[in-house]
Amino acid sequence: MTVIEIVLGDITREHVDVIVTAANESLLGGGGVDGAIHRAAGPRLAQAGGTVGPCEPGDALATPAFDLDPPVQHVIHTVGPIWEGGDHGEAEVLASCYRRSLQLADELGARTIAFPMIATGVYGYPPDQAAGIAVATIKSTPTGLQQVRLVAFDEESHRHLRAAMAAVS
Ligand code: APR
Repeated sequence: MTVIEIVLGDITREHVDVIVTAANESLLGGGGVDGAIHRAAGPRLAQAGGTVGPCEPGDALATPAFDLDPPVQHVIHTVGPIWEGGDHGEAEVLASCYRRSLQLADELGARTIAFPMIATGVYGYPPDQAAGIAVATIKSTPTGLQQVRLVAFDEESHRHLRAAMAAVS
């Protein structure tokens, strides 16, 4: 039974086996949550990302987590959709980010994982719709993970995630 938890905080402080970052296709690092994770993990994360990348939108690739503390086994880099109004397949790409990340975490033998609100910052995805896709995809994807933590960085995202969970409970 996979437990889904909604938390408000900084994903770089999460004590889990895998932290997911909302990357760009190069996997060389960027701003937002990707910038925070790269700063916390150190320069080797960008080197490793450059080696395994590029990453297609909707796909997910793993690297070690290097200097992240609390210690994390892996960083999973996933690339969300850039919001273009909602009729360019964005919802399926976003769902694929969560689905592929869970599948990869299973392959890595992870038991716990933390996700940010993928695509809802620079990429402009409406956070209420993104929260619904995150929760629905996690609940519908078979996984061996014991705990999936959805980390909101602000109160609005936290509210949308809580509402998305309430809607399916
Ligand atoms: N912990 C948790 N969540 C965070 C943190 C953090 N430390 N910092 C930012 N966030 C949240 C943002 O508030 C937003 O809700 O992560 C969510 C995703 O926002 P972005 O980081 O902007 O990611 P995204 O919208 O997917 O855009 C990706 O931005 O940083 C670049 O290289 C990245 O080109 C890529 C694009």
